Amino acid sequence: MTGVKIVGVGHYAPERIVDNHDLEQWLDTSDEWITTRTGMKRRHWTSENEATSDLALAAARNALASAKLEPNDIDAYILCTVYPDYLFPATACIVASKLGARDKAAFDMEIACSGFIYGLTVASSMIRAGVYKRIVLIGAETLSKLVDRTDRGTAILFGDGAGAVVLEAAVEDSFLGSELGSDGSRPELLRVETGGSRLPVSHATLDRKADRIHMEGREVFKFAVTKMIEATDRALEKAHLQKSDVDVLIPHQANKRIIDAAMKYLEIPPERCVVNIQEYGNTSAASIPIALSEAVRDGRVKPGDVIVFVGFGGGLSWGAVVWKWAA
Ligand code: ACO
Repeated sequence: MTGVKIVGVGHYAPERIVDNHDLEQWLDTSDEWITTRTGMKRRHWTSENEATSDLALAAARNALASAKLEPNDIDAYILCTVYPDYLFPATACIVASKLGARDKAAFDMEIACSGFIYGLTVASSMIRAGVYKRIVLIGAETLSKLVDRTDRGTAILFGDGAGAVVLEAAVEDSFLGSELGSDGSRPELLRVETGGSRLPVSHATLDRKADRIHMEGREVFKFAVTKMIEATDRALEKAHLQKSDVDVLIPHQANKRIIDAAMKYLEIPPERCVVNIQEYGNTSAASIPIALSEAVRDGRVKPGDVIVFVGFGGGLSWGAVVWKWAA
Protein backbone atom coordinates (compact mmCIF):
# COMPACT_ATOMS: atom_id res chain seq x y z
CA MET A 1 0.00 0.00 0.00
CA THR A 2 1.14 3.48 -0.86
CA GLY A 3 -0.31 6.87 -0.04
CA VAL A 4 -1.93 9.45 -2.30
CA LYS A 5 -1.84 13.23 -2.57
CA ILE A 6 -3.25 15.99 -4.77
CA VAL A 7 -0.53 17.61 -6.85
CA GLY A 8 -2.63 19.85 -9.12
CA VAL A 9 -5.99 21.63 -9.14
CA GLY A 10 -7.88 23.53 -11.83
CA HIS A 11 -11.31 24.76 -12.74
CA TYR A 12 -13.22 26.35 -15.56
CA ALA A 13 -16.61 28.03 -15.98
CA PRO A 14 -18.27 29.16 -19.21
CA GLU A 15 -18.09 32.84 -20.11
CA ARG A 16 -21.81 33.60 -20.02
CA ILE A 17 -22.96 34.80 -16.59
CA VAL A 18 -26.66 34.73 -15.72
CA ASP A 19 -27.46 36.77 -12.62
CA ASN A 20 -30.66 36.79 -10.58
CA HIS A 21 -31.94 39.87 -12.39
CA ASP A 22 -31.55 38.10 -15.73
CA LEU A 23 -33.76 35.28 -14.40
CA GLU A 24 -36.38 37.86 -13.36
CA GLN A 25 -36.81 38.61 -17.07
CA TRP A 26 -38.61 35.32 -17.79
CA LEU A 27 -39.41 33.74 -14.41
CA ASP A 28 -41.83 34.75 -11.67
CA THR A 29 -38.98 35.22 -9.20
CA SER A 30 -36.82 37.95 -7.67
CA ASP A 31 -33.22 38.63 -6.75
CA GLU A 32 -34.38 38.99 -3.15
CA TRP A 33 -36.08 35.53 -3.08
CA ILE A 34 -33.17 33.74 -4.71
CA THR A 35 -30.57 35.45 -2.52
CA THR A 36 -32.32 34.85 0.80
CA ARG A 37 -33.52 31.28 0.00
CA THR A 38 -30.35 29.99 -1.69
CA GLY A 39 -27.42 32.42 -1.32
CA MET A 40 -27.00 32.44 -5.10
CA LYS A 41 -26.39 35.68 -7.05
CA ARG A 42 -24.92 34.51 -10.34
CA ARG A 43 -24.24 31.29 -12.23
CA HIS A 44 -22.37 30.44 -15.45
CA TRP A 45 -24.31 28.89 -18.32
CA THR A 46 -22.82 27.24 -21.39
CA SER A 47 -23.52 28.47 -24.88
CA GLU A 48 -25.37 26.16 -27.27
CA ASN A 49 -22.21 24.71 -28.77
CA GLU A 50 -20.45 23.95 -25.45
CA ALA A 51 -20.81 20.47 -23.98
CA THR A 52 -19.67 18.85 -20.74
CA SER A 53 -16.42 17.59 -22.31
CA ASP A 54 -15.42 21.16 -23.29
CA LEU A 55 -15.66 22.33 -19.68
CA ALA A 56 -13.95 19.18 -18.39
CA LEU A 57 -11.14 19.61 -20.91
CA ALA A 58 -10.40 23.18 -19.79
CA ALA A 59 -10.44 22.25 -16.09
CA ALA A 60 -8.20 19.21 -16.67
CA ARG A 61 -5.73 21.34 -18.68
CA ASN A 62 -5.56 23.83 -15.81
CA ALA A 63 -5.04 21.07 -13.25
CA LEU A 64 -2.29 19.43 -15.34
CA ALA A 65 -0.57 22.80 -15.76
CA SER A 66 -0.64 23.42 -12.01
CA ALA A 67 0.84 19.92 -11.47
CA LYS A 68 3.43 20.59 -14.20
CA LEU A 69 2.51 17.28 -15.81
CA GLU A 70 1.70 16.24 -19.38
CA PRO A 71 -1.46 14.30 -20.37
CA ASN A 72 0.57 11.15 -21.06
CA ASP A 73 2.07 11.24 -17.55
CA ILE A 74 -1.40 10.26 -16.31
CA ASP A 75 -2.52 6.61 -16.07
CA ALA A 76 -6.30 7.13 -15.88
CA TYR A 77 -8.95 9.81 -16.39
CA ILE A 78 -12.14 9.68 -14.33
CA LEU A 79 -14.99 12.09 -15.05
CA CYS A 80 -17.91 12.55 -12.65
CA THR A 81 -21.04 13.95 -14.29
CA VAL A 82 -24.79 13.48 -14.57
CA TYR A 83 -24.91 15.03 -18.03
CA PRO A 84 -22.29 13.46 -20.29
CA ASP A 85 -21.86 14.45 -23.93
CA TYR A 86 -23.59 11.20 -24.97
CA LEU A 87 -25.28 8.23 -23.26
CA PHE A 88 -22.15 6.49 -24.51
CA PRO A 89 -19.23 6.60 -25.21
CA ALA A 90 -17.96 7.85 -21.87
CA THR A 91 -17.13 11.55 -21.89
CA ALA A 92 -13.84 10.79 -20.08
CA CYS A 93 -12.61 9.01 -23.23
CA ILE A 94 -13.29 12.13 -25.31
CA VAL A 95 -11.57 14.39 -22.79
CA ALA A 96 -8.47 12.18 -22.50
CA SER A 97 -8.17 12.02 -26.26
CA LYS A 98 -8.60 15.78 -26.77
CA LEU A 99 -5.93 16.38 -24.13
CA GLY A 100 -3.57 14.27 -26.24
CA ALA A 101 -3.41 11.29 -23.88
CA ARG A 102 -2.89 8.05 -25.81
CA ASP A 103 -4.33 4.65 -24.81
CA LYS A 104 -5.01 5.67 -21.19
CA ALA A 105 -7.81 4.29 -19.02
CA ALA A 106 -10.83 6.61 -19.00
CA PHE A 107 -14.33 6.22 -17.60
CA ASP A 108 -17.28 8.20 -16.27
CA MET A 109 -18.91 7.97 -12.85
CA GLU A 110 -22.51 9.02 -12.28
CA ILE A 111 -23.67 9.63 -8.76
CA ALA A 112 -25.09 13.14 -9.21
CA CYS A 113 -23.83 15.87 -6.87
CA SER A 114 -21.99 13.30 -4.73
CA GLY A 115 -19.84 12.50 -7.77
CA PHE A 116 -16.63 14.15 -6.68
CA ILE A 117 -16.74 12.57 -3.20
CA TYR A 118 -17.29 9.09 -4.65
CA GLY A 119 -14.73 9.76 -7.39
CA LEU A 120 -12.11 10.91 -4.90
CA THR A 121 -12.64 7.74 -2.87
CA VAL A 122 -12.41 5.47 -5.95
CA ALA A 123 -9.40 7.23 -7.50
CA SER A 124 -7.52 7.39 -4.17
CA SER A 125 -8.23 3.72 -3.54
CA MET A 126 -6.83 2.76 -6.96
CA ILE A 127 -3.64 4.68 -6.26
CA ARG A 128 -3.31 3.42 -2.68
CA ALA A 129 -3.77 -0.16 -3.93
CA GLY A 130 -0.93 0.36 -6.42
CA VAL A 131 -3.12 -0.03 -9.54
CA TYR A 132 -2.21 3.42 -10.89
CA LYS A 133 0.36 6.06 -10.06
CA ARG A 134 -1.45 9.15 -11.36
CA ILE A 135 -5.12 9.87 -12.00
CA VAL A 136 -6.90 13.00 -13.21
CA LEU A 137 -10.30 13.25 -11.50
CA ILE A 138 -12.78 15.71 -13.00
CA GLY A 139 -16.25 16.91 -11.98
CA ALA A 140 -18.01 18.60 -14.91
CA GLU A 141 -21.64 19.58 -15.47
CA THR A 142 -23.87 21.50 -17.85
CA LEU A 143 -27.12 21.33 -15.90
CA SER A 144 -28.36 24.60 -17.38
CA LYS A 145 -29.13 22.43 -20.41
CA LEU A 146 -31.00 19.85 -18.34
CA VAL A 147 -33.34 22.13 -16.37
CA ASP A 148 -36.71 23.32 -17.56
CA ARG A 149 -35.81 27.01 -17.84
CA THR A 150 -39.44 27.94 -17.24
CA ASP A 151 -39.57 26.09 -13.88
CA ARG A 152 -38.66 28.61 -11.19
CA GLY A 153 -38.18 25.81 -8.65
CA THR A 154 -35.12 24.44 -10.45
CA ALA A 155 -34.03 26.89 -13.18
CA ILE A 156 -32.58 29.33 -10.65
CA LEU A 157 -30.46 26.72 -8.90
CA PHE A 158 -28.12 25.19 -11.41
CA GLY A 159 -24.97 26.48 -13.06
CA ASP A 160 -22.33 24.98 -15.34
CA GLY A 161 -18.66 24.43 -14.67
CA ALA A 162 -15.86 21.96 -14.12
CA GLY A 163 -13.17 21.31 -11.54
CA ALA A 164 -10.29 18.84 -11.67
CA VAL A 165 -7.54 17.44 -9.49
CA VAL A 166 -4.40 15.47 -10.28
CA LEU A 167 -3.84 12.65 -7.80
CA GLU A 168 -0.43 11.05 -7.39
CA ALA A 169 1.07 8.21 -5.35
CA ALA A 170 2.92 9.50 -2.28
CA VAL A 171 4.76 8.22 0.75
CA GLU A 172 2.66 10.26 3.18
CA ASP A 173 -1.05 9.56 2.77
CA SER A 174 -3.48 12.48 2.34
CA PHE A 175 -6.53 10.21 2.32
CA LEU A 176 -7.55 9.91 5.96
CA GLY A 177 -11.10 8.56 5.75
CA SER A 178 -14.25 8.30 3.66
CA GLU A 179 -17.93 7.70 4.31
CA LEU A 180 -20.25 7.01 1.37
CA GLY A 181 -23.95 6.23 1.40
CA SER A 182 -27.11 5.96 -0.69
CA ASP A 183 -30.84 5.41 -0.46
CA GLY A 184 -32.45 4.61 -3.80
CA SER A 185 -35.92 3.93 -2.42
CA ARG A 186 -37.39 7.23 -3.67
CA PRO A 187 -35.77 8.20 -7.00
CA GLU A 188 -38.73 10.51 -7.76
CA LEU A 189 -37.41 13.05 -5.23
CA LEU A 190 -34.67 14.11 -7.62
CA ARG A 191 -34.35 12.74 -11.12
CA VAL A 192 -34.60 13.04 -14.88
CA GLU A 193 -37.25 10.45 -15.60
CA THR A 194 -36.90 9.75 -19.29
CA GLY A 195 -33.89 8.89 -21.44
CA GLY A 196 -32.87 5.66 -19.70
CA SER A 197 -34.03 2.06 -20.09
CA ARG A 198 -36.91 2.45 -17.62
CA LEU A 199 -38.61 5.07 -19.76
CA PRO A 200 -36.96 5.69 -23.13
CA VAL A 201 -37.53 9.09 -24.74
CA SER A 202 -40.78 9.41 -26.68
CA HIS A 203 -42.95 12.27 -27.90
CA ALA A 204 -45.16 11.69 -24.85
CA THR A 205 -42.30 11.96 -22.34
CA LEU A 206 -40.97 15.06 -24.07
CA ASP A 207 -44.42 16.67 -24.06
CA ARG A 208 -44.63 16.37 -20.28
CA LYS A 209 -41.02 17.51 -19.87
CA ALA A 210 -39.91 14.24 -18.28
CA ASP A 211 -36.49 14.87 -19.87
CA ARG A 212 -35.88 17.79 -17.48
CA ILE A 213 -34.74 17.78 -13.82
CA HIS A 214 -37.57 17.19 -11.38
CA MET A 215 -36.92 17.87 -7.71
CA GLU A 216 -38.91 17.87 -4.48
CA GLY A 217 -36.94 20.77 -3.03
CA ARG A 218 -38.15 20.69 0.58
CA GLU A 219 -37.61 16.93 0.93
CA VAL A 220 -34.12 17.17 -0.55
CA PHE A 221 -33.31 20.09 1.76
CA LYS A 222 -34.12 18.11 4.94
CA PHE A 223 -32.21 15.04 3.78
CA ALA A 224 -29.21 17.16 2.75
CA VAL A 225 -28.68 18.77 6.14
CA THR A 226 -28.98 15.45 8.02
CA LYS A 227 -26.70 13.51 5.70
CA MET A 228 -24.01 16.20 5.50
CA ILE A 229 -23.76 16.11 9.28
CA GLU A 230 -23.80 12.30 9.55
CA ALA A 231 -21.30 11.78 6.73
CA THR A 232 -18.88 14.35 8.19
CA ASP A 233 -19.15 12.81 11.67
CA ARG A 234 -18.54 9.27 10.38
CA ALA A 235 -15.68 10.18 8.05
CA LEU A 236 -13.97 12.05 10.91
CA GLU A 237 -14.49 9.04 13.17
CA LYS A 238 -12.83 6.79 10.58
CA ALA A 239 -9.94 9.27 10.40
CA HIS A 240 -9.71 9.29 14.23
CA LEU A 241 -10.21 13.06 14.23
CA GLN A 242 -12.56 15.51 15.97
CA LYS A 243 -14.64 18.32 14.49
CA SER A 244 -12.20 20.76 16.10
CA ASP A 245 -9.37 19.25 13.98
CA VAL A 246 -10.98 20.45 10.74
CA ASP A 247 -9.11 23.40 9.23
CA VAL A 248 -11.16 23.75 6.05
CA LEU A 249 -14.56 22.35 5.12
CA ILE A 250 -15.51 22.26 1.44
CA PRO A 251 -19.19 21.38 1.06
CA HIS A 252 -21.26 20.76 -2.04
CA GLN A 253 -22.70 24.16 -3.00
CA ALA A 254 -26.45 23.47 -3.29
CA ASN A 255 -27.96 26.02 -0.93
CA LYS A 256 -26.30 28.44 1.51
CA ARG A 257 -28.99 27.64 4.08
CA ILE A 258 -28.16 23.92 3.88
CA ILE A 259 -24.46 24.72 4.37
CA ASP A 260 -25.18 27.11 7.29
CA ALA A 261 -27.45 24.61 9.06
CA ALA A 262 -24.88 21.80 8.75
CA MET A 263 -21.97 24.04 9.84
CA LYS A 264 -23.90 25.19 12.89
CA TYR A 265 -24.41 21.62 14.10
CA LEU A 266 -20.83 20.64 13.23
CA GLU A 267 -19.59 23.74 15.13
CA ILE A 268 -17.41 24.77 12.19
CA PRO A 269 -17.03 28.57 12.10
CA PRO A 270 -17.89 30.30 8.79
CA GLU A 271 -14.28 31.34 8.15
CA ARG A 272 -13.29 27.64 7.91
CA CYS A 273 -15.97 26.83 5.36
CA VAL A 274 -15.44 27.50 1.64
CA VAL A 275 -18.55 29.00 0.04
CA ASN A 276 -18.67 30.26 -3.56
CA ILE A 277 -22.34 29.50 -4.27
CA GLN A 278 -23.01 33.20 -4.91
CA GLU A 279 -20.82 33.02 -8.04
CA TYR A 280 -21.63 29.57 -9.45
CA GLY A 281 -24.98 28.29 -8.14
CA ASN A 282 -25.18 24.51 -7.89
CA THR A 283 -22.74 22.92 -10.34
CA SER A 284 -23.44 19.39 -9.06
CA ALA A 285 -20.35 17.13 -9.30
CA ALA A 286 -18.22 20.15 -10.23
CA SER A 287 -19.00 22.27 -7.17
CA ILE A 288 -16.50 20.77 -4.72
CA PRO A 289 -13.48 20.66 -7.08
CA ILE A 290 -14.22 24.24 -8.25
CA ALA A 291 -14.35 25.42 -4.62
CA LEU A 292 -11.15 23.50 -3.84
CA SER A 293 -9.34 24.95 -6.84
CA GLU A 294 -10.32 28.50 -5.82
CA ALA A 295 -9.41 27.91 -2.17
CA VAL A 296 -5.97 26.53 -3.07
CA ARG A 297 -5.26 29.39 -5.46
CA ASP A 298 -6.23 32.11 -2.99
CA GLY A 299 -4.26 30.53 -0.11
CA ARG A 300 -7.19 29.39 2.05
CA VAL A 301 -5.85 25.83 1.90
CA LYS A 302 -2.37 25.46 3.34
CA PRO A 303 0.07 22.53 3.66
CA GLY A 304 -0.86 20.34 6.62
CA ASP A 305 -4.50 21.47 6.68
CA VAL A 306 -7.16 18.88 7.45
CA ILE A 307 -9.91 19.28 4.84
CA VAL A 308 -13.37 17.73 4.87
CA PHE A 309 -15.11 17.41 1.49
CA VAL A 310 -18.80 16.70 1.99
CA GLY A 311 -21.65 16.35 -0.48
CA PHE A 312 -25.07 14.91 -1.26
CA GLY A 313 -27.35 14.64 -4.24
CA GLY A 314 -29.50 12.50 -6.48
CA GLY A 315 -29.67 8.83 -5.61
CA LEU A 316 -30.29 9.90 -3.02
CA SER A 317 -26.60 9.78 -2.22
CA TRP A 318 -24.11 11.38 0.13
CA GLY A 319 -20.53 11.20 1.29
CA ALA A 320 -17.57 12.86 2.98
CA VAL A 321 -13.81 12.50 2.61
CA VAL A 322 -11.22 13.65 5.16
CA TRP A 323 -8.03 14.78 3.47
CA LYS A 324 -4.71 16.15 4.69
CA TRP A 325 -3.34 18.76 2.30
CA ALA A 326 0.23 17.77 1.42
CA ALA A 327 3.17 20.16 1.42
N1 ACO B 1 -38.88 32.44 -6.85
C1 ACO B 1 -39.92 32.82 -6.09
N2 ACO B 1 -40.68 31.95 -5.40
C2 ACO B 1 -40.38 30.64 -5.50
C3 ACO B 1 -39.31 30.18 -6.28
C4 ACO B 1 -38.54 31.13 -6.98
N3 ACO B 1 -37.49 30.81 -7.76
N4 ACO B 1 -39.25 28.84 -6.17
C5 ACO B 1 -40.24 28.46 -5.35
N5 ACO B 1 -40.93 29.56 -4.95
C6 ACO B 1 -42.08 29.62 -4.06
C7 ACO B 1 -42.85 28.31 -3.97
O1 ACO B 1 -43.77 28.19 -5.04
C8 ACO B 1 -43.53 28.45 -2.63
O2 ACO B 1 -44.67 29.25 -2.78
P1 ACO B 1 -46.02 28.90 -1.96
O3 ACO B 1 -45.62 29.00 -0.51
O4 ACO B 1 -46.96 29.93 -2.43
O5 ACO B 1 -46.37 27.50 -2.36
C9 ACO B 1 -42.52 29.23 -1.80
O6 ACO B 1 -41.63 29.87 -2.74
C10 ACO B 1 -41.72 28.36 -0.86
O7 ACO B 1 -41.27 27.23 -1.61
P2 ACO B 1 -40.34 26.11 -0.97
O8 ACO B 1 -40.12 25.04 -1.99
O9 ACO B 1 -40.83 25.73 0.38
O10 ACO B 1 -39.02 26.99 -0.79
P3 ACO B 1 -37.71 26.57 -0.03
O11 ACO B 1 -37.42 27.55 1.01
O12 ACO B 1 -37.72 25.11 0.35
O13 ACO B 1 -36.61 26.78 -1.16
C11 ACO B 1 -35.30 25.43 -2.62
C12 ACO B 1 -36.67 26.00 -2.35
C13 ACO B 1 -34.34 26.58 -2.84
C14 ACO B 1 -35.37 24.58 -3.89
C15 ACO B 1 -34.85 24.56 -1.41
O14 ACO B 1 -35.89 23.68 -1.06
C16 ACO B 1 -33.61 23.77 -1.69
O15 ACO B 1 -32.53 24.31 -1.84
N6 ACO B 1 -33.72 22.43 -1.68
C17 ACO B 1 -32.58 21.56 -1.87
C18 ACO B 1 -32.14 21.60 -3.29
C19 ACO B 1 -30.91 20.77 -3.47
O16 ACO B 1 -30.04 20.74 -2.65
N7 ACO B 1 -30.84 20.05 -4.55
C20 ACO B 1 -29.70 19.19 -4.79
C21 ACO B 1 -29.77 18.85 -6.17
S1 ACO B 1 -28.24 18.32 -6.65
C22 ACO B 1 -28.30 17.00 -7.71
O17 ACO B 1 -28.06 15.88 -7.31
C23 ACO B 1 -28.62 17.28 -9.17
